Amino acid sequence: MSKISSILVTGGAGFIGSYVTKLLLEKGYHTIVLDNLSKGKKEHLLGGEFIEGDLADRSLLNKIFKNKIEAVLHFAAFTDVGQSVSEPELYHENNVEKTRILLEEAKKQGVSRFIFSSSAAVYGNPLQDLITEDHPTSPINPYGATKLTIEKELGPDAVSLRYFNAAGGDPEGKLLYRHQRPTNLIPIILQGLMENRPFTLFGKDYPTPDGTCVRDYIHIHDLASAHVLALISKGGVYNLGNGRGYSVLEVVSAVEKITGIKVNLQQGPRRAGDPPYLVASSAKAKKELGWKPIYSSLEEMVEHAWKGYQQN
Ligand SMILES: NC(=O)c1ccc[n+]([C@@H]2O[C@H](COP(=O)([O-])OP(=O)(O)OC[C@H]3O[C@@H](n4cnc5c(N)ncnc54)[C@H](O)[C@@H]3O)[C@@H](O)[C@H]2O)c1
Repeated sequence: MSKISSILVTGGAGFIGSYVTKLLLEKGYHTIVLDNLSKGKKEHLLGGEFIEGDLADRSLLNKIFKNKIEAVLHFAAFTDVGQSVSEPELYHENNVEKTRILLEEAKKQGVSRFIFSSSAAVYGNPLQDLITEDHPTSPINPYGATKLTIEKELGPDAVSLRYFNAAGGDPEGKLLYRHQRPTNLIPIILQGLMENRPFTLFGKDYPTPDGTCVRDYIHIHDLASAHVLALISKGGVYNLGNGRGYSVLEVVSAVEKITGIKVNLQQGPRRAGDPPYLVASSAKAKKELGWKPIYSSLEEMVEHAWKGYQQN
């Protein structure tokens, strides 16, 4: 199979994009990262080319596509579900309208290989325990709606990867990532430990074994390896999850075990719109892409994320 040599990574200075870029470089790809640094940092890039700029800058895109881009990995987006509820227009503009510009410019240059960072948020409230790709899509927040809108506008060669909760960090500890304003559970708890703040547990009366919500955490290394496989696959939609859920309390005890620090737990009420159980079936990605995730243990995810907090 021939390798794709030049890849545009939008949002490549962010949490997931920077790690995927690292893996692509290790696999011998040439990468061009486009990021406006609204959230990401240039220091997250360990190599490849970097261009500071916005997705909406058509003339810049035009220049970039002169480099014979063979595929686009599109990570750039706003990702805070809560903020998408309070500022839906901002999310529509950044995640939908600006992605349309990128798609138009890519199409003009004949680039049809487009790997899109979609999300489990497209499903909305789960109707079954293990979510498969044919589960109905019915987002319950504007963030999820932006992802679904774009999925529907992608061409047949595009790949939509629906990530569940991205977690972990660089297992080698070369790329040290610390979230600025974390919105995912593991970094929220780790940041709280660093700043000596309590962690609020939203609801302990869910119908789950320990009463706290169960979620699917997927290591960024495994997300990254799926992107490498997606580059040489046919188009389609794939869930990327662990297939095994962990409860909030299980995450808390993994954090305590890895860091050796006791989490200061505070009990809060349930939050609206939090389903008790949200876990992916990734059987399709395993079968069709040949994907083999290797970091499914919660403790490894916490340990790799913690490296970024200790050394930053
Ligand atoms: N983190 C998760 O658990 C998760 C889950 C599902 C889907 N996703 C999706 O994965 C992608 C990456 O998420 P992340 O967690 O790495 O987020 P992140 O915020 O760390 O990275 C996004 C990057 O995009 C850049 N960016 C945003 N808007 C831009 C624009 N208009 N032009 C140029 N650059 C822009 C930011 O500066 C940032 O570096 C996003 O599309 C997100 O929706 C993430």
